[in-house]
Amino acid sequence: MAASTTETPVGRVKPSRLIDLEQHKDERGCISVAESQWTAGFPIRRVYFLHDLTDGTSRGGHAHRELEQLFIAAHGGFTIHVDDGHQRAEYRLDTPGTALYVGPMVWRDLRDFTPGGVCLVLASHHYDEADYYREYEDFLRDSRRHA
Ligand code: TYD
Repeated sequence: MAASTTETPVGRVKPSRLIDLEQHKDERGCISVAESQWTAGFPIRRVYFLHDLTDGTSRGGHAHRELEQLFIAAHGGFTIHVDDGHQRAEYRLDTPGTALYVGPMVWRDLRDFTPGGVCLVLASHHYDEADYYREYEDFLRDSRRHA
């Protein structure tokens, strides 16, 4: 069961939110579906996944200027901390049937992966280092300027 610590929306440009994926279950198992138009709300141009993660590691530690993403716990679970420079929240993702939408100008940290956990990410744009904020102070300055 995916869960959030707060109802307060985090993301001034577009709020972060949990999305139930379309699922098709039968006696063989389950298919969970994410589509650009119906699920993500953005064109899915890139797919990547985090796997073979070192015990106790954290990922993320950045924000994006334009990028929109869906995060899915394809296997196991992890916690995403989101911060828009004003509000913070954390989401525990631990079911493949739920995605977390994270939009532009949201700092994110991914932590507390279960052993063997796999984080699937669907992204609106191709990889572009210029879209990243790598320094929290730079992100905070710009997020507060846009407020
Ligand atoms: P980064 O986005 O910082 O990873 P995470 O959010 O999981 O901590 O990326 C780590 C490295 O991988 C960095 O050198 C950039 C590279 N990378 C790509 O080349 N293409 C990609 O699509 C992604 C997501 C990362």
